[in-house]
Amino acid sequence: MRPVPERPVDLGHDAEEPAREELLAVRDLRKHFSSRRRFLERRPDPVRAVDGVSFTLRRGETLGLVGESGCGKSTTARAILRLVEPTGGQIRYDGEDVTDMSASALRRFRRRAQMVFQDPEGSLNPRMRVGDALLEVLQVHRLHPGRSARRRRVGELLELVGLLPEHGRRYPHQLSGGQRQRVGIARALSVEPELLVLDEPVSALDVSVQAQILNLLHDLQQELQLTYLLISHDLAVVEQASHRVAVMYLGRIVEVAEAYQVYQAAKHPYTRALLSAIPRIETAGARGRKVLLVGDTPSPIRPPRGCPFHPRCTDSRKDGECGWRVPALEPQLDGGRVACLKVGGDSRSRT
Ligand SMILES: Nc1ncnc2c1ncn2[C@@H]1O[C@H](COP(=O)(O)OP(=O)(O)OP(=O)(O)O)[C@@H](O)[C@H]1O
Ligand SMILES: [Mg+2]
Repeated sequence: MRPVPERPVDLGHDAEEPAREELLAVRDLRKHFSSRRRFLERRPDPVRAVDGVSFTLRRGETLGLVGESGCGKSTTARAILRLVEPTGGQIRYDGEDVTDMSASALRRFRRRAQMVFQDPEGSLNPRMRVGDALLEVLQVHRLHPGRSARRRRVGELLELVGLLPEHGRRYPHQLSGGQRQRVGIARALSVEPELLVLDEPVSALDVSVQAQILNLLHDLQQELQLTYLLISHDLAVVEQASHRVAVMYLGRIVEVAEAYQVYQAAKHPYTRALLSAIPRIETAGARGRKVLLVGDTPSPIRPPRGCPFHPRCTDSRKDGECGWRVPALEPQLDGGRVACLKVGGDSRSRT
């Protein structure tokens, strides 16, 4: 298996590359959960898990979605695939409104957009050999009619993800974590999707196995022209594997830009603080001064007024507008977007 390169192999965009077509557009997505009623409380405030998320995903690219635990990454993913019903906002997939789809259109959409989870063991039937589990998916979706054609397809799927036919005869517990994740990917690919939403796909794996799975995902993307939304709390994983990166904080996107821009010249104070926290061999001097993340993440039940990050921000003036104005995700001259009143936006790139 090829080692993971310092920078992604030909994942960068060069100036000559034509603009990629938009596959998914998420606008002001919100998902609020009702929270438990506390003593003497009449109507409890909702948990604002996702509170105005906007981004686009272009065909064939990997968009990394990063942020601390509890910031709403998984809820965003689930709301996009309508595994939970969004509270508000728009989701357009290949020009179609996902929030307004009929049952049959939703079924078609869910074949085109598949989810891969952190813990494939939890989503694999422990009493079923993995080959039979893949066979069942093909049967349910009426793909590759005929028993021998389906068996052949299962063999191809196993090979596609770097497994041998004998792995198909094993039960999930007889596979290593990395092999189980390969089965999870094979199962997602069995319905020939265009988009994979990968929710912490390597977080449960050793670093060396993480690298193998990231390489596999990279090769599959090239071979099958897949589009990825790659969710991780690990910035190093996202850096290796993404074309663009969206940084999430307390239910919102605070910065989105090309991966190299985020990692070399992050603009939002939260992104800078997150990057400062990654242990690296190269000195912090090469990346500018260390920015410490102070305090705990506020509760999504009562997010702070104004900029959600301002109570932890070392750049904000607590008595200034950061305390009462919510920053919009403003376009920047370099093509990125940042939601910070101190950074502002580029008026020329506003539409
Ligand atoms: N079904 C639910 N009911 C109530 N609150 C929920 C529900 N699901 C998630 N939440 C809350 O929504 C917020 C966002 O959760 P989510 O799982 O999306 O975060 P995450 O960014 O994926 O975190 P992690 O990195 O730990 O996976 C959290 O405060 C969580 O407690
Ligand atoms: Mg999660």
